Amino acid sequence: MTGKPIDEQVPAWIREIQAYQPGRPIEEVERELGIHAVKLASNENPLGPSPMAVEAARRAMSDSNWYPDGAGYYLRKKLSEQLGMDMERLILGAGSCELIDLAARTLLTPGDNAVSSEGSFPLYYSAVRATGERLKLVPLRNFTFDLDGIARATDARTKVIYLANPNNPTGTIFLADTLDAFLARIPGSALVVLDEAYYEYADRPGYSRSLDLVREGGNLFVLRTFSKVYGLAGMRVGYAAGPAGLIAQMNKVRQPFNVSGVALAAAEAALDDLEHVRRSVENNRRGLAQLEAGLRGQAIGFVPSAANFMLVHIGAEASRIADAMLRLGVIVRPMGWMGFPEAIRVSVGTPEENDKFLTALGEARASVEGRRPQAVSPGQPRG
Ligand SMILES: Cc1ncc(COP(=O)(O)O)c(C=O)c1O
Repeated sequence: MTGKPIDEQVPAWIREIQAYQPGRPIEEVERELGIHAVKLASNENPLGPSPMAVEAARRAMSDSNWYPDGAGYYLRKKLSEQLGMDMERLILGAGSCELIDLAARTLLTPGDNAVSSEGSFPLYYSAVRATGERLKLVPLRNFTFDLDGIARATDARTKVIYLANPNNPTGTIFLADTLDAFLARIPGSALVVLDEAYYEYADRPGYSRSLDLVREGGNLFVLRTFSKVYGLAGMRVGYAAGPAGLIAQMNKVRQPFNVSGVALAAAEAALDDLEHVRRSVENNRRGLAQLEAGLRGQAIGFVPSAANFMLVHIGAEASRIADAMLRLGVIVRPMGWMGFPEAIRVSVGTPEENDKFLTALGEARASVEGRRPQAVSPGQPRG
């Protein structure tokens, strides 16, 4: 054989992408360490999926010899009714991740750029970098998206702007008024991708009127998902609301059967189970309060969260502490790879799981640091 090996033929901009680091599967940890573990690492719903969704998925399995409805008609119809949004303004994805990618693939041409924030969801970065185009990253301000900085970084060649609200991994939000002022500064040539994966948890006054903006014809692509409050992360289904013309173009380049029939059925049923959503939001509200109180009790700093996870500042030994916690049966995520080397991110679990996390954190800190933890002022994040 002559010439460079095939992997070296891959363009440099793809070879340079840092692979996404998923949370470790619970089965793998349990097998390796021979323990029972709780997974608080990937912001999943600790209450599980809605039983109605499970039943619908089971029924749909028996039709799995057929390709699914590629347009996801019934799920889009139900979403359209629940959200008061034209069906033409809705698109489905294999999780909202697919739609993050689709925005970059559909819009970026040579010489264009995209803008987002440092310390945010890594898939924005890989979606843009996979196109070979430039990504400008603006630092967070006080753990929150700096919309002013992002507006200043936007130029005539900016085609996509990714905003996470709430942000992962900091759990912070910006309010609807702040978004309005930002949008007024953004040229019509740039699509604002507003990622609201944790929307249902963030029920704060003035948080979001994103769908109104889409209905009014705004240049906005709002992402939502069934992976979080609906408890269907393993099914891979999410959706976006955006301009109908853009969505028509995106439909040409997405995979024609991107969402499975089983996932479509489960998501449709999940939309009917409002009680499950309510319980999930309530469990999360209490869980955040429990975590906050427990962390304050151990004098550990954290960033107050509007989502179903929390960024916890535990100092220079964060990664070793997370490792020690793993051996105690609690899986959390060290956050160095997302730009916070002194922090871990913990997902809100059931009350028992949250307790287990707090106990394991105390024990792991004591064993790694070999002393009682230093006192820091309660609730104060240490960036
Ligand atoms: C900010 C953000 N957006 C999108 C997603 C992806 O979710 P999905 O499972 O819908 O692809 C996540 C998942 O953790 C996330 O944190």
